[in-house]
Amino acid sequence: MIFRQLFDKKSSAYTYLLAHEQSGEAVFIDPVADYIEDYLTLLDHYGCKLKYSLETHVHADHITGSGLLKQRTNAQTGVNQQCGAVCADMQLKHGDTLTFGDHTIHVIATPGHTPGSTSFLIDDRLFTGDALMIDSCGRTDFQGGDAGAQYDSIVQRLFTLPDETLVYPGHDYTGKWVSCIGQERMINARLAGKTREAFSQIMNNLNLPNPKLIDIAVSANRKCGIQEATEALPQS
Ligand code: FE2
Repeated sequence: MIFRQLFDKKSSAYTYLLAHEQSGEAVFIDPVADYIEDYLTLLDHYGCKLKYSLETHVHADHITGSGLLKQRTNAQTGVNQQCGAVCADMQLKHGDTLTFGDHTIHVIATPGHTPGSTSFLIDDRLFTGDALMIDSCGRTDFQGGDAGAQYDSIVQRLFTLPDETLVYPGHDYTGKWVSCIGQERMINARLAGKTREAFSQIMNNLNLPNPKLIDIAVSANRKCGIQEATEALPQS
């Protein structure tokens, strides 16, 4: 499988490209609007055709590239049906499966950071968005966040996966790229050995500032990033 992990320095967000070499079918997870030309160059480089552009949730800190990728490649866009992003071609729900080449994408609903937060399991790689992060997890203090739901999602749906499952988060702010389920279950500072109540206590007292782009990004991303992303482009 072709696999690339891409990083947006401005929002410390990860974007993932996966593709099946033989068929050339490709998938982006959490693309960022600023990098559309780079994504198209990558697809061209690998000789791939984009089949899906998927979101782990409606982001508050950057504008999604899904809508622009659809315009440029005819890829199908997909988000969880709880996200309120009616622009998306596919309103995904827990238990859905998609395929690219001979790979299967398992849709695992992991609400908590937002009601529509979703993880995607592809072979031995788990893309967790802002649910489970490396030695951390997504905040639950805005966008309908719910610390108890986050705990249940992670403990019941992610920590029950095999220990060696690789964890690729939606963000990391300290230069870490990948973890695994066994490591997070054992040493994640917010979750390891914590009760639901202790976790909620931690999450409800983080006192973090809101992301700079939250007012723009959330409404833009419910429209697949199209209008605002287009307006933000330099005029020629
Ligand atoms: Fe987020």
